[in-house]
Amino acid sequence: MKLNRFPIPFLFFAMLALIFALWAGLLRLGWQLPALTPSLALAHGPLMISGFLGALITLERAVAIKQKWMYLPPLLAGLGGLLTILIKPLPLGPILLTLASLGGVGILTVMARRETALHTITMWFGMLTWFVGNLLWLFGWQISQIVFFWQAYLILTITGERLELSRVLRPTKLQQILFGIIAALFLVGTSASLFNLQLGTVLVGIALICIAFWSLRNDIAWKNLKHKLPLTRYIAWCLALGFIWLGIGGGLNLFFGAQVAGPRYDALLHVIFIGFVISMIFGHAPIIFPAVLGIPINFQPAFYLQLILLHASLALRAFADYANLQTLRMWGGLLNEIAIFIFIGMTVYSIRKSLSEK
Ligand code: HEM
Repeated sequence: MKLNRFPIPFLFFAMLALIFALWAGLLRLGWQLPALTPSLALAHGPLMISGFLGALITLERAVAIKQKWMYLPPLLAGLGGLLTILIKPLPLGPILLTLASLGGVGILTVMARRETALHTITMWFGMLTWFVGNLLWLFGWQISQIVFFWQAYLILTITGERLELSRVLRPTKLQQILFGIIAALFLVGTSASLFNLQLGTVLVGIALICIAFWSLRNDIAWKNLKHKLPLTRYIAWCLALGFIWLGIGGGLNLFFGAQVAGPRYDALLHVIFIGFVISMIFGHAPIIFPAVLGIPINFQPAFYLQLILLHASLALRAFADYANLQTLRMWGGLLNEIAIFIFIGMTVYSIRKSLSEK
């Protein structure tokens, strides 16, 4: 296998956005750190959603489909993230991020035309919610008003990917229709949140619980928890824990209702963004990185360290959020970040090991 160097500069921008986003996250938690730029703390959400994940997700598609224009969205996402924190008065960053998401819709349109299937349509709607969320944010809506759109972007993209990767289980027509109904409910709830946040929160909550239960029968992850191959088993645990947090997130939406700021807002968002999204990234990295860089990832038992730390620290943070324990909440957030850095370190180590063994 040969290292594909072309995506590396794009990955560099995405990683830069992640590092700034994590720094901003610590500022938002109350850690006394230099602010770096006046707008950094407020840019945490856009950096995470668009600068980092937007760039990464569109890059993966560009590498897979191999059309040159498709490298534009990840570039715009990476640059847009940086401009958002550097140039505040001009909305140049948000404009680039919105264009990146429009490009994302373009990429998924090509994919859905090539293969019109439940998974591509799901991912297409994911890109659309990213674009709509960004557009509203560009026109001055508060992040707390549109964050359900950003959440829908990541959840639909990941569940679409899971549908694709679990095709070996051959879900019945009925199961596919059921998924379509749940996804439609999720989209209705997401849209409703713009006009009636409480109603939107309840509908989204029900949909999240349904997606988690639907996965029990239809996602291969649950069947692989005792797989004999260590890497397959590890991936399965990342995914299964992600689905559990998705269900918990749905329950919190239903039980505590809409939140727009404060510790409960923090818990509601990060149970999904860290518990589901980051855990899924931990699980998908051994599949995605070889596809993007052309290098396999060697499984290391130490991968479990990042996984256990991520979930334990998230449980600590969510508990502290609801118990209103500020110091514990700060430590929970910091440990979330340490888990992410261990993951990055282990991934780089594993890629280097694969390269040296060639
Ligand atoms: C890993 C460690 C992380 C830390 C320490 C962190 C910290 C925070 C904090 C403290 C807030 C403000 C909550 C409040 O108002 O009380 C916040 C908001 C937010 N976070 Fe995170 N976060 C992390 C990860 C993530 C991830 C992985 C994502 C997305 C995938 C994300 C997306 C967001 C978004 C969209 C908001 C709302 C921003 C706003 O309303 O301005 N965060 N985060």
